Amino acid sequence: MAKVFNWQLGREMDYPYEGTRPKRQFAMVFDTNKCIACQTCTVACKTTWTPGRGQEYMYWNNVETKPYGYYPLGWDVNILEKLGVQDQSKPVYAGKTLFEAAPPGEPVLGYLPDDADYANPNVGEDDSTGLMPQGAYLTMPHMQWMFYLARICNHCTYPACLGSCPRQVIYKRPEDGIVLIDQTRCRGYRECVKGCPYKKVYFNPITRVSEKCIGCYPAVEGGRQSQCTVTCIGKIRLNGFITTPDRADEHNPMDYLVHVAKVALPLYPQFGLEPNVYYIPPIHVPPPYLIQMFGHGVPQAIETYKRVRDDKRLLGALMLFGSTPEILHRFRVSGDHAIGYDEKGGEAIRVPLTEPFQIRAFFDEARKVYRHNVT
Ligand code: SF4
Ligand code: SF4
Ligand code: F3S
Repeated sequence: MAKVFNWQLGREMDYPYEGTRPKRQFAMVFDTNKCIACQTCTVACKTTWTPGRGQEYMYWNNVETKPYGYYPLGWDVNILEKLGVQDQSKPVYAGKTLFEAAPPGEPVLGYLPDDADYANPNVGEDDSTGLMPQGAYLTMPHMQWMFYLARICNHCTYPACLGSCPRQVIYKRPEDGIVLIDQTRCRGYRECVKGCPYKKVYFNPITRVSEKCIGCYPAVEGGRQSQCTVTCIGKIRLNGFITTPDRADEHNPMDYLVHVAKVALPLYPQFGLEPNVYYIPPIHVPPPYLIQMFGHGVPQAIETYKRVRDDKRLLGALMLFGSTPEILHRFRVSGDHAIGYDEKGGEAIRVPLTEPFQIRAFFDEARKVYRHNVT
């Protein structure tokens, strides 16, 4: 094992290969507070990339209801249990990563799901933690809760899929950090499926090779955001490029959200893969659950997010979500607008910080009808 530096853990860790960071790193930010689980992203990805035979249970993008939804069944609780009990009085990063906890002779601690674990892609949808007593009012955080967790491949800096493949057919592109499988060389060993803790590599039983999210690289190469991002109804997603904290550029919206405002956090950073999909945690969910999922930055992220009305810059960055198909490399707030710029510095989008609000007369004299007010 080589020693690599994982900024999400703030320390060096073991990895099967020498670490080489790509020239730039594909990344996503998902705002869980805005997701409505309409599954438009899931369908957009599926119809674009995985409509063929053998791909029936393949969801490169899925949206699951936490805490009881999973795809495949139990993916996170299974690997958390293997990793061992975590003491929340200590940082979640204090324990071993999946690479450091690997059984002798294996590159990573993992498991291969059963076929039946893929049988119910939306198991647990809308299940909450329990019933509300009659007459009770919701408190913050809510005493009974659920939230929607959208998931894609994290295009990890230290991918366990890549580290697991005995044929070394998985690679991380130096130009954008997107992780791909060379299907011409894949022999279907499924060590990648076993090794990825997020279970974001899928085996195709017809072609007998594995497949995974390709980060919509044809779009990204053309300066456009991924399909799941541009089709998102809730505008919960922003797709771009992130750098490491020591090289963070506060004008880059991804760097700003993750490294400067620190409102967006990685999924299960304690696994040690340095995943590059970042989540704004749901403000109504009790912190202990979220800390296990997103790390110890959760309370600060939630407090910052709740103060967004007082922070024009943060509001501006959030208003850019879902505003344009183009990848935004820089942004700024000017007056009451947020402006996003493309790679060449041209203005790609300008959005108002406050959406127009109209109150319509309850009785419309012209049409002689009553109307409800909508914004
Ligand atoms: Fe590989 Fe899984 Fe990381 Fe994607 S999420 S790069 S499939 S280890
Ligand atoms: Fe699918 Fe592209 Fe989204 Fe990956 S980035 S989940 S390939 S739509
Ligand atoms: Fe390697 Fe996974 Fe194929 S382990 S051979 S990429 S199924």
